[in-house]
Amino acid sequence: MAAKFASTEWIWRDGEFIPWASATIHIMSHAVHYGSSVFEGIRCYRTPDGPSIFRLDDHMQRLRDSATVLRMDVGYSADELAAACRGLVARNGLDECYIRPILMRGVGAAGLDPAASPVESYIICWPWGAYLGDGALERGVDVCVSSWQRPGPNTHPALAKAGGNYVSSQLITMEAVANGYHEGIALAPGGLVSEGSGQNIFLARRGKLITPAIDGSMLEGITRDCVIEIARELGIAVSEQRVPRELLYTADELFFTGTAAEITPIRSVDRVVIGAGAAGPLTRRLQERLLGIARGRLPDTHGWRALVHGQGQEVAAA
Ligand SMILES: Cc1ncc(COP(=O)(O)O)c(C=O)c1O
Repeated sequence: MAAKFASTEWIWRDGEFIPWASATIHIMSHAVHYGSSVFEGIRCYRTPDGPSIFRLDDHMQRLRDSATVLRMDVGYSADELAAACRGLVARNGLDECYIRPILMRGVGAAGLDPAASPVESYIICWPWGAYLGDGALERGVDVCVSSWQRPGPNTHPALAKAGGNYVSSQLITMEAVANGYHEGIALAPGGLVSEGSGQNIFLARRGKLITPAIDGSMLEGITRDCVIEIARELGIAVSEQRVPRELLYTADELFFTGTAAEITPIRSVDRVVIGAGAAGPLTRRLQERLLGIARGRLPDTHGWRALVHGQGQEVAAA
């Protein structure tokens, strides 16, 4: 059952803060009918220096890139949107939350051509715990390989985080949950591993990390990028490559990455137990490092943290 979410007081809409209940849209909005929206999912963490938004600039860049693919004019620079995210978290008085900027086509013409439908911009934030349920980060999740494949390259723009793409994700996750799993892994049209419904995937094999290469069927996750960076710093080899499905079952460790899912261990695939059936040592090391940086327990050598109440990037924690 999907978790309900806690509402907050304020939502940012096109340059102003409006009450949560006032953030309504018209039923004839182009995005409602045709999926013409682009969005981001970002986490803000409690740190010793106050709330800090993780990889804010990278998320704003991806939002603008998604808008470019959908030929949407964004009325705000990446810096303006980043400042709006900070302002919204501060105004809602939150020290830890999930942030969802969304640009969507509003009311214009009824047909498919979105040109006459102006872009409306919103940012919402709310408290959100572990995406795949309480205890998922420690105990891991049970997943299946979905019967739904990801769309092929040059069908849906998988690198754009566009609303319409998420029909595919919903089908994957609904099927998995209906069959008693926490989540599904989708294959790409050629039959190789692609990603989860809203997560990228990594496997550990003989001390090395393997993740599917960007192939036009998946989102290029920002957490995926963090894991690749951190692994290299820790001296762990990472290979971005073609991943046959059977490697999932024989992996020593398997985990999802995503802003919502963070690093979630996978303990079984299609009821085949992975490794020891619990978070493996590599997964734990990566989890500790990633969350240590995000939560301000480890130095921010990459400039990944953006303080809500400060200007620009915060200084590295001692
Ligand atoms: C389809 C899909 N793949 C992967 C990811 C992971 O991306 P990120 O790590 O940037 O959150 C997400 C989440 O945004 C997603 O929706």
